[in-house]
Amino acid sequence: MTNPRLKELRQRLAQIHQMGGPERVERQHQAGKWTARERIAYLLDPGTFEEIGAHIRHRGQGLGLSGVEAPADGVVTGFGRIEGRVVYVYAQDFTVLGGSLGEMHAAKIQRIQDLAMASGAPIIGLNDSGGARIQEGVDSLNGYGEIFKRNTWASGVIPQITVIMGPSAGGAVYSPALTDLIIMVRGTAQMFITGPQVIQAVTGETVTAEALGGAEAQMARAGVAHLLADDDQAALTLVRRVLGYLPNNYLEEPPVVASDDPPNRIVPALRDLVPLDPAKPYDVLTVIQAVVDQGSWLEVQPTFAPNVVVGFARLGGHPVGVLANQPRVLAGTLDIDGSDKLARFVRLCDAFNLPLITLVDTPGYLPGTAQEYGGIIRHGAKVLYAYAEAVVPKLTVILRKAYGGAYLAMCSRSLGADLVLAWPTAEIAVMGPEGAANIIFREEIGQAADPEAARAAKVQEYRERFAHPYVAAARGYVDAVIDPAETRLRLVAGLMALYNKHEARPPRRHGNIPL
Ligand code: HXC
Repeated sequence: MTNPRLKELRQRLAQIHQMGGPERVERQHQAGKWTARERIAYLLDPGTFEEIGAHIRHRGQGLGLSGVEAPADGVVTGFGRIEGRVVYVYAQDFTVLGGSLGEMHAAKIQRIQDLAMASGAPIIGLNDSGGARIQEGVDSLNGYGEIFKRNTWASGVIPQITVIMGPSAGGAVYSPALTDLIIMVRGTAQMFITGPQVIQAVTGETVTAEALGGAEAQMARAGVAHLLADDDQAALTLVRRVLGYLPNNYLEEPPVVASDDPPNRIVPALRDLVPLDPAKPYDVLTVIQAVVDQGSWLEVQPTFAPNVVVGFARLGGHPVGVLANQPRVLAGTLDIDGSDKLARFVRLCDAFNLPLITLVDTPGYLPGTAQEYGGIIRHGAKVLYAYAEAVVPKLTVILRKAYGGAYLAMCSRSLGADLVLAWPTAEIAVMGPEGAANIIFREEIGQAADPEAARAAKVQEYRERFAHPYVAAARGYVDAVIDPAETRLRLVAGLMALYNKHEARPPRRHGNIPL
């Protein structure tokens, strides 16, 4: 090579690309993890990555950091493409100072956040870090604060997806928590505010890091994570899949794909799916999978609050958000966690122009002191708020029970549903026949010669009067009672009719959602 400047550039880049050096890279691989650069290469369309800030260096002086080489300051940042669409990405490099976040590491992430916002493109964070770089003290903390602020400003503007691919401890968990979706890798990802040693010291509890903040715990128990992947490759594949449902930003429509699933496909099996006995459960996933475009269903938070189901799907090639009660778990009641899950997903879909498809079969809110003391009132209110606030097309199908407040909450006409369909098995009432008969006919039942026979007669009377969709349909709260086999074609037709729907809310700074 003749040009010495070019030679120097190449040497510098080669040194940067070594990351923490062969030994630490080997250790990363031994731990079942890819390096930051391997992850980015797999995530993006081949050859599209453009790195920004590779030459950035830390300015830390204290605690032995002075003079320490930290290639790219432990985070690889830039932009590239996924299915041809521009995305911005940062990947923390655990082989360099444990991926810890110092002043300049943070500045690189902030720069990517700013560019993503300016260009209206999604941002993807691949996190693998020991948290705040201890040697850089308050500069590290400040770096996090600047990132949190940008996460918040970007919320609802561009999709923000975080993949946790290693440790994420302390306040470092809050940038992921401020993004739209968190994907965790089983076995290697851990998130917690205070680790096992601090917990042991303060509360005396003994817990392993994995049990405390591993992917299973954050998925099923805490509801912090949304999707689980078995390894790095699966997690990155999942990011690409999730992006396929989301637009580049809130001003654009989600990507439409050509679907070879006929929009007018009839599903005869749905006619007999709902048991005639209203107490008998069935699996609402069967309905969802039968109705949406074949192969398009991606369930979000499948193990958290499984009494409700949320996920992405497509109808006629158009991305939609699907929300449903799950009669197989807690009879499909709404509880605190289920309410949080529904409300958050409604707001994600509404922010990014995904129509809402709501499938209703719920006997109401879960009773009990645990729910009341836990604040089911304020948590349940989030669902009302989220649905009423949403301006995207809202299509509701009442499959069976739709009782009381839960009927209203599950995207009823009064909360602004644009199209409400009901199966003939729908029962729309203030409460179930047994409860209602016991309250309104209490005296008659009590005074009857045979109270049990009287109760059964009153339950039957109530059932005949109210336990069907036709009273609601007569008032216009239900737009059509349909053959269940036609659910897909009726939803696709409704969706196409509502595609250009525009609705505005009164101007204000922002609402005050119950929390
Ligand atoms: C500086 C760090 C670091 C950190 C790890 N390293 N975390 N350097 N600041 N926070 C360095 C280690 O010194 C080590 O350097 C290398 O990274 C790899 O770390 P190991 O400990 O060898 O790896 P491992 O055994 O896999 O353990 C990973 C770990 C552990 C569980 C993450 O390193 C750890 O507990 N780190 C501290 C976590 C923490 O408490 N962070 C602060 C959280 S508070 P060498 O040179 O030896 O290879 C926080 C506040 C944010 O983040 C507030 C925001 C509002």
